[in-house]
Amino acid sequence: MLRPESRLVHRDGTSLTSPLDRSTTFRHTGGLEYQRSGHPVGIDAETLLGSLDGGSALLFASGLAAVTAVALGLLAPGDRVAIPHDGYYGTERLFAAELSRWGLEGVPFDQTGSVPPGVRMAFLETPANPSLSFPDLGPCIAAAHAQGTLVVVDATVATPLLLRPLEHGADIVLHSATKGLAGHSDALVGAVICADAAVAERLHAFRTLTGGVAGPDAAWLLLRGLQTLAVRVARSSESALELAHRLAAHPRVARVRYPGLGPDPVAARYLAGGFGCLLSFEVAGDGAAAQRVEAATRLIANATSLGGAHSTMETRHRYEGDRVAPGLVRLSVGLEHVEDLWEDLSAALERG
Ligand SMILES: Cc1ncc(COP(=O)(O)O)c(C=O)c1O
Repeated sequence: MLRPESRLVHRDGTSLTSPLDRSTTFRHTGGLEYQRSGHPVGIDAETLLGSLDGGSALLFASGLAAVTAVALGLLAPGDRVAIPHDGYYGTERLFAAELSRWGLEGVPFDQTGSVPPGVRMAFLETPANPSLSFPDLGPCIAAAHAQGTLVVVDATVATPLLLRPLEHGADIVLHSATKGLAGHSDALVGAVICADAAVAERLHAFRTLTGGVAGPDAAWLLLRGLQTLAVRVARSSESALELAHRLAAHPRVARVRYPGLGPDPVAARYLAGGFGCLLSFEVAGDGAAAQRVEAATRLIANATSLGGAHSTMETRHRYEGDRVAPGLVRLSVGLEHVEDLWEDLSAALERG
């Protein structure tokens, strides 16, 4: 089999790229019926993602639509679900604000320890957004399985080029493909890759009835973005490591979180070929100082999201003030020249 870098680019058939077929309905002769249950460009993207992560893939309309499908499609009222207390805030909020009304209880936990007892499903994040904490996947998943807990790993930040959680025993991998996989901040897509094809079938049935499939345009943009994933991940990881080191030495920075700093011994055992595009740092002083810094960059966009070609940066307190320090700034390193990024960042720190 071709290596992942080549699979990202290569497509069998006459066309080098997947034709953008927007048909919502199909003749009853070719296997497909209606776009909500599956469509050609979506299936191309699913085949590629499935081969990268080593399982059966399904696309969803967004990362959170994928989380919703995994929860509502696989759980039952009364089930408890462990969620990293320092991971993606949207997952925690989804359970607290919405899924709790359907009898699903989110239980925050420290993913650097073990999964709490009595949970039916556990989410892990590799590394977590925005804390960059990293779980010890092998023992954590084995202990979860021993107590009958299904394990879902949100590997949005790592991408399948740096980490393939199914190889470490995870039941399901989840990606906000909106981020690094699509990679250009122009498509909202989620993906789930299941170790067990029967689980994928169950989620496919759920997706068909609830309608949360990604459309052909988003799937096409995902495939387009995936072609350059390997070079983007390598470049942004290299720049992020350099910036993390420089930030750590800056007098106006109190703390830097990046798995490559040190490096984090657990992350270093699991991530192969780079530590990803995401880092967080705390600006010395109060939250107002961090807000001045985020507003002072000219090249780095003061915007949310991560994994895009453009670098983006924001204080996270605006969303998750109940759990992150006011001075915490999250930076997603894009593809600009690292020296331009540093000039922008250090000037913002001086001005802020
Ligand atoms: C780690 C992680 N998981 C899931 C999501 C949700 O993805 P989406 O925005 O595509 O719904 C995000 C979005 O920021 C994320 O960072």
